[in-house]
Amino acid sequence: MQEKTAIVTGAGSGIGKAIARRFAAAGARVAVVDLNGDAAGASAAEISAAGGTARALTCDVANEQSVADMAATVVDTWGSADIIVNNAGLQFISRVEEFPLTKWNQLIGVMLTGAFLCTRACVPHMKRRGWGRIINISSAHGKAPSPWKCAYVSAKHGILGFTKVMACELAEWNITANSICPGYVLTPLVEKQIKDLAVQYGIDESEVPQQVLLKNQPLKKLVSTAEVADLALYLASDQAQCVTGQALSIDGGWTFC
Ligand SMILES: NC(=O)c1ccc[n+]([C@@H]2O[C@H](COP(=O)([O-])OP(=O)(O)OC[C@H]3O[C@@H](n4cnc5c(N)ncnc54)[C@H](O)[C@@H]3O)[C@@H](O)[C@H]2O)c1
Repeated sequence: MQEKTAIVTGAGSGIGKAIARRFAAAGARVAVVDLNGDAAGASAAEISAAGGTARALTCDVANEQSVADMAATVVDTWGSADIIVNNAGLQFISRVEEFPLTKWNQLIGVMLTGAFLCTRACVPHMKRRGWGRIINISSAHGKAPSPWKCAYVSAKHGILGFTKVMACELAEWNITANSICPGYVLTPLVEKQIKDLAVQYGIDESEVPQQVLLKNQPLKKLVSTAEVADLALYLASDQAQCVTGQALSIDGGWTFC
């Protein structure tokens, strides 16, 4: 990862933060990108304190100008944008007939359009250097549904299609594109869902992991952020030069595909 620049979106928290930390420990220069500037700053400061190279950037991945400014700053700072990890995301749970259009647009905007905008901003720099890695954080919900998550599941299925198009369109420049599909990972995104699902199912919050989240998962374990970060690091490496267009699951056997 020496001499490589990685942009990790949503890196102020959870999975993105773990990926940013892992990439920096492997020697990459990491742009810690988040809508929450304070969280991005804290995450970048942790990486710097550990001896890594990181810069925090506040950016709304769903906003075209914000993404263009972010990418320009990264390239001005380090001269390249070799790896993009499209990780920023959020959840909203509601029955379809009550699902607000604003929430639908927000979830699709961040997790599908946002990934498109960030990828589009990085690809010219990847082509220029004849090497690139696009890593999209989809979900087990990119392969399987759950009720009351129509926007999330649609965005996460959609990103798998986007990934495959990038894999065939960019292969001649040594640019690979892959998706990671984690099962439930205990991060702020899931902690909030546990509260909402306890209300929806009329059960205690402590019962939600085993009775709801892990119900269809043979291993009955929450995935760790470190497991996702390690897979992202592999996909970003030269060892994964022939892995492209894939949707790799880390889901305890939930989806079987
Ligand atoms: N936690 C899980 O169980 C799980 C499982 C599968 C997939 N995922 C996916 O992993 C990714 C990270 O999730 P997490 O669990 O770490 O969540 P998280 O809530 O801990 O972190 C998400 C981060 O994205 C940022 N973000 C939100 N909107 C943004 C925007 N418009 N622009 C820039 N940043 C924005 C947030 O500020 C936050 O820091 C998401 O795409 C999520 O869908 C999570």
